[in-house]
Amino acid sequence: MLHPFISGNKFRKLKYNIAFAKAQQLETLVTFGGAYSNHIAATAAAAKVNGLQAVGIIRGEELGNDLEQTLSENPTLHFAHDQGMKFHFVTRSAYREKEEAATVKALLESLPSPYLIPEGGSNELAVKGCTEILTPADAQYNFVCCSVGTGGTLKGLIAAADAHQHILGFPALKSSYIKDELKDWATHNRWSLINDYHFGGYAKVSKELITFMNTFFADTGILLDPIYTAKLMYGVYDLIEKGYFPENSRILAIHTGGLQGIAGMNMKLAKKGLPIIHT
Ligand SMILES: Cc1ncc(COP(=O)(O)O)c(C=O)c1O
Repeated sequence: MLHPFISGNKFRKLKYNIAFAKAQQLETLVTFGGAYSNHIAATAAAAKVNGLQAVGIIRGEELGNDLEQTLSENPTLHFAHDQGMKFHFVTRSAYREKEEAATVKALLESLPSPYLIPEGGSNELAVKGCTEILTPADAQYNFVCCSVGTGGTLKGLIAAADAHQHILGFPALKSSYIKDELKDWATHNRWSLINDYHFGGYAKVSKELITFMNTFFADTGILLDPIYTAKLMYGVYDLIEKGYFPENSRILAIHTGGLQGIAGMNMKLAKKGLPIIHT
């Protein structure tokens, strides 16, 4: 509802980063992402809206062999390309090294005024933006639930939580190194990570999850994305059923966007002969 392309938490994460880049007259946003990344799509759109250039460093060197074919098979990269983003495809090992990788260093040196935004967009300015997700009207809720990837969104919510609010993060990844980092970072302990709803790991989905998404959409008219918000909402519903929340709890589940990922996931599901996500 914030913006058709810079959706959900991406709007919050990019807001102060773009303001900073503009103030410093840094003209090119450079960031990292997988081939179906919501953050890549949103950064491309945000750069265009703000009159900036964008370069996406994309995991998977093979995707650069035939760009036209890649674009025809990948709705996320197709969209980002249409917004004017340039791509720099790197091997998985270079991707892991991020800005320490020789190829990434060379890219950054070749650009006149780059502004580097980390994977998932999560840096301090992103967390600052995410503190604005909660508004005074949300004080009526005592549980606030969100999906977790890099953890920037959750940090913003933890920082903004009122004294009577408990923040629940639902990691979309199997291995959550984030807990230790959060423990050191948070100034209070009214938060928990619920690790039971990753469905096998990042971008993994099951028939059960797709069925849940389709039922949820039919019942509410609200689309969920398969990577993040569907797992969150599945988890919230399951916890309600299991009696996790005390009676009279008021629960806020935050839809962090990501709907652009449905098209790519549906292509994968159709290839495997699995049921697809209804839109
Ligand atoms: C739609 C959506 N929801 C939630 C998240 C998780 O946010 P974070 O990386 O800040 O934990 C992401 C990833 O950035 C996302 O794209």
